[in-house]
Amino acid sequence: MDLFEYQARDLFAKHGVPVLAGEVIDTPEAARAVAERLGGRAVVKAQVKTGGRGKAGGVKLAADPEDAVAKAGQILGMDIKGHTVHKVMLAETADIAEEYYVSFLLDRTNRTFLAMASVEGGVEIEEVAVSNPEALAKVPVDAIDGVTDEKAREIVAAARFPAELTDQVVEVLKTLWTVFVNEDALLVEVNPLVKTGDGKVIALDGKVSLDENAAFRQPDHEALEDKAAADPLEAAAKAKNLNYVKLDGEVGIIGNGAGLVMSTLDVVAYAGEQHGGVKPANFLDIGGGASAQVMANGLEIILGDPAVKSVFVNVFGGITACDEVANGIVQALELLKNKGEDVSKPLVVRLDGNNAELGRKILSDADHPLVQRVDTMDGAADKAAELAAAAR
Ligand SMILES: Nc1ncnc2c1ncn2[C@@H]1O[C@H](COP(=O)(O)OP(=O)(O)OP(=O)(O)O)[C@@H](O)[C@H]1O
Ligand SMILES: [Mg+2]
Repeated sequence: MDLFEYQARDLFAKHGVPVLAGEVIDTPEAARAVAERLGGRAVVKAQVKTGGRGKAGGVKLAADPEDAVAKAGQILGMDIKGHTVHKVMLAETADIAEEYYVSFLLDRTNRTFLAMASVEGGVEIEEVAVSNPEALAKVPVDAIDGVTDEKAREIVAAARFPAELTDQVVEVLKTLWTVFVNEDALLVEVNPLVKTGDGKVIALDGKVSLDENAAFRQPDHEALEDKAAADPLEAAAKAKNLNYVKLDGEVGIIGNGAGLVMSTLDVVAYAGEQHGGVKPANFLDIGGGASAQVMANGLEIILGDPAVKSVFVNVFGGITACDEVANGIVQALELLKNKGEDVSKPLVVRLDGNNAELGRKILSDADHPLVQRVDTMDGAADKAAELAAAAR
């Protein structure tokens, strides 16, 4: 989960990384009081989850509270790389002498954590990384040892920070590493980390990405979610504990096991080529021990997606045998009908694996008008694609 700059700044402050005071607002008028509290002058910054805000005109200096209202008015509603600005942060202004760059991230390729640092930070850092890679120091960080005083000094030396700043930057790196570890982050980045006219080192911009797999031990992180931006179907699926990802096709997919669902997406996309290019509408893995209730939850989400024209239920019976799954499907359709849901889209069901024969018999006996049985994966994918194309 990526955070907004102001949320990153709050986490930095919590762990002792030096930041400037600031407040978030969502109307231009609110800028006046905030600017007054910040001493009149303020930097008005678009809060969107993308970089390059400065270059896009989303970071502006306001000379006084009146100007802050005007600048906030210009930035709110702006589109930056496809992100609409709904909030701006007003921050104290810094007297910038130099701009640096520091970050910690998970380096998957090398199976380690990585520190990156450069004395050529600022809005051109991506350019620096490409045209002058020696200027961007990369230092592996051991997961167990972390950023000790010694490791921080190694990073400072590798990036060639000015000697008189060593102690301050070492401190920033150590506290930033605390943010990384204690908040279960996958990325913390400061660009720019600045030296001010009077020689202080301050984090002026922050990017943090949190590891959602750690949500169970980070109860505070839920409040950081941008609920307004979440896809409503994905949010509903999450609330039901379903492994669901919205895609942009027309064939709803339900399967048990992530691998099976992934290959189902492939066969449906392939079959769809023969049917006007219909594609999978989602990924949904209902997992191994799927009960009728879980099947009903999954079907409810998928049938609630207006883009879905047909549904492919692809189950390979394992611990949960096919007869239980078949009963689950029949009961799920009944459950949804009783709830008053509009159950009118055709379902293609393929059952194989443990107790497949019995499962197929249950479906045949139930003889539900919307359910068709196709016993091969390719055949079922083709049928589901054909039905979706016909309903377009
Ligand atoms: N509080 C501040 N006071 C003075 N100048 C600032 C302040 N905040 C930002 N700036 C200036 O604006 C520039 C851009 O701001 P910032 O880095 O926050 O946004 P950005 O353009 O989105 O950056 P990135 O591309 O790294 O995400 C900074 O490099 C800095 O020069
Ligand atoms: Mg920046």
